[in-house]
Amino acid sequence: MSVSNLSIAEQLRELREEIHYHDHRYYVLDDPEITDTAYDALYRKLQLLEEAHPELDDANSPTKRVGGAVQDGFISRPHRLRMYSLDKDITYEGWTNFLARAENKLEIGEIQFSKSAFWVDPKFDGLALEIIYENGVYSKALTRGDGFVGEDVTENVRTIRHVPLDLRGHAKRHKIPIPDILEVRGEVVFTLQDFFILNESQRKGGHKVFANPRNAAAGSVRQLDPKITASRKLSFFPYGIGLVQWGIVDNAWNKYESIMEFLKKYGFKVNRLSKILPCKDVYEYYQEILHKRHKLEFEIDGVVAKINDLALQSALGFTDRHPRFAFALKFPAHEGETVLRQIDVQVGRTGVLTPVAILEPVSLAGVTVARATLHNEDEIKAKDLRVGDTVVVRRAGDVIPEVVRVVEDKRLPNAEPFDFPHICPSCQSPAVRGEGEAAWRCVNLACPAMLRRGISYFVSKSGLDIEGLGAKWVQALIDQGLVKTPADLFRLTEADLLPLERMAEKSAANFVAAVEAAKHSATLPRLIAALGIRQVGTRTARTLAEHFTDLDALGAATVEDLTSLPDVGPEVAGSIREFFDNAENRHLLERFREIGLWPVSVIKSTDSAVPAAVTPFTGKRFLFTGALPDMARDKAQALVEGAGGKVVGSVSKKLDYLVAGADPGSKLAKAQVLGVAVLSPEQFAAMLAELPGETQTRKSLLDP
Ligand code: IVH
Repeated sequence: MSVSNLSIAEQLRELREEIHYHDHRYYVLDDPEITDTAYDALYRKLQLLEEAHPELDDANSPTKRVGGAVQDGFISRPHRLRMYSLDKDITYEGWTNFLARAENKLEIGEIQFSKSAFWVDPKFDGLALEIIYENGVYSKALTRGDGFVGEDVTENVRTIRHVPLDLRGHAKRHKIPIPDILEVRGEVVFTLQDFFILNESQRKGGHKVFANPRNAAAGSVRQLDPKITASRKLSFFPYGIGLVQWGIVDNAWNKYESIMEFLKKYGFKVNRLSKILPCKDVYEYYQEILHKRHKLEFEIDGVVAKINDLALQSALGFTDRHPRFAFALKFPAHEGETVLRQIDVQVGRTGVLTPVAILEPVSLAGVTVARATLHNEDEIKAKDLRVGDTVVVRRAGDVIPEVVRVVEDKRLPNAEPFDFPHICPSCQSPAVRGEGEAAWRCVNLACPAMLRRGISYFVSKSGLDIEGLGAKWVQALIDQGLVKTPADLFRLTEADLLPLERMAEKSAANFVAAVEAAKHSATLPRLIAALGIRQVGTRTARTLAEHFTDLDALGAATVEDLTSLPDVGPEVAGSIREFFDNAENRHLLERFREIGLWPVSVIKSTDSAVPAAVTPFTGKRFLFTGALPDMARDKAQALVEGAGGKVVGSVSKKLDYLVAGADPGSKLAKAQVLGVAVLSPEQFAAMLAELPGETQTRKSLLDP
């Protein structure tokens, strides 16, 4: 090797180490030290240097995270040390019996097992792996398999951002030695959020939807194309080690906690729920985690307690199946079988027909479940759900329960495929399903089901903002047949209202006055927004009001007229046209005109004195964590501020929205504990899509 080549090798080594360091800060610690731009520059520099010097290739370079060539299959390889399973139970008695068995096994005079400390981890519900490092460098990854022989998934696991590829930089920084051979064992999991994002994109792409995060993790690791694994946001949590062979240094470990501390220093993401506890506190901790279970970022099916003292571990040894020094306290199942009694189809404010499974009530992890979301027509078809079927239902995190699949063996012979209604179940008018859309929608504004939500929206802050008219009153007015369209609100008299339950004379008078006041103060942008036209939020309404003098002018606009406006795309233009082409809607507008609810535009686009429109962002506090797939964080923050929102620095009760991207870290957990609304990057993009301006950014976010 020439001298200049040597220095190139040295440059490459340093650059790789630096990028490994920043990857760790970003993915494992959720605490990046440099900007995305600075990182991209480093990465690009490494790529160029590697392209120029293929002879200095490194299979574990940070650039190899993207995944290599497609493989023919997986080779089976034996584990050097068996990967045992765990002794387990779901009862307190099971736990105390375990303690008693272990104590019996010990010679008199040895430390009392039940008085010792335990390392307690969550029991991750994913795919178990063994990752082998030789001289501190990633060399192989095997699945657990049957515990004796696993499958070689080295190429796939290399793409997982949580798996350090080179321990040497980390060890150097922490001034700790590295064993010649180190087998790290742990579990690959999907966070619930990444799992939902994955399934959403699978659904959109017409690909297989995974039944649960565990299957998704296993399916993603066992991919013949490592590039697919690379595209999935997998997490890896270590929980122990297999073989460890020290060279000249002596074994540094006599406690389980020291092993875990070292793994953390080597760059692994040791879970924050793991802790050391005296034996007497283990069961209580299990219960504590059990209660938090549905608020965690990922699924766990129990906790695992391991005696902390490694000498005691060896003294106890193994049975023919599991260690005598470790025990899994399992949680009750959150998946269960029940009968699908009925499929209801509900109508939302924008007319979307949403199917809901009505179930024979079933208790899942302590909660009775009687309804589950079914998403849309395609989902029912894909799962071939039929009324009367026995189905597997699961609760994942804090979300609405889901029907996972049909138990086909239990299908009744007369079960018929479900016919998704193509008419609105509430008003019987024809429903429409737009090209490329998953949902059927009712487009009749007078539809009673839509009415309740539509009128609630009409009077809400996003609409005419009629004081004191909440959803409860709207429901009562509809139930009494007093209101069938938003226009009816303006004809209500005190005499109409007084018979309503809990309506006193004074409140009836206030009510009528508030409606009257709203009629006079209604501006064109407010009224357009109040109509609840699909995809027309307050900002788009304002744009429209700037270009059309009144509802007549807007209703006469062609798709071409509309799309010529700065912020209106073909989809928005289409739904505006759809609204005005509907006879019921036109009739409603005529009634507005008769009543005198007919504001004309006062806003001119040049009028700078006009206050900014109220948007869903106005006055709201936002915080970002994790990576957004298609947008730099500073850009996202600027958009929030531009739309009237505020970006804050930490999670508190005052926070309105946490936007959680990939690998969200502790902020997400904290937000969930405080009950702060959490938005996925998709939901955030959808909110932005309601705003005019920044069209390009929104486009790239929505259809990447
Ligand atoms: S310790 C010798 N800790 O559970 C100790 N296992 O039932 C053996 N698992 O396939 C394992 N989370 O993949 C341990 N915190 C945890 C775990 C864990 C999940 C899995 C493991 C194994 C299975 C055993």
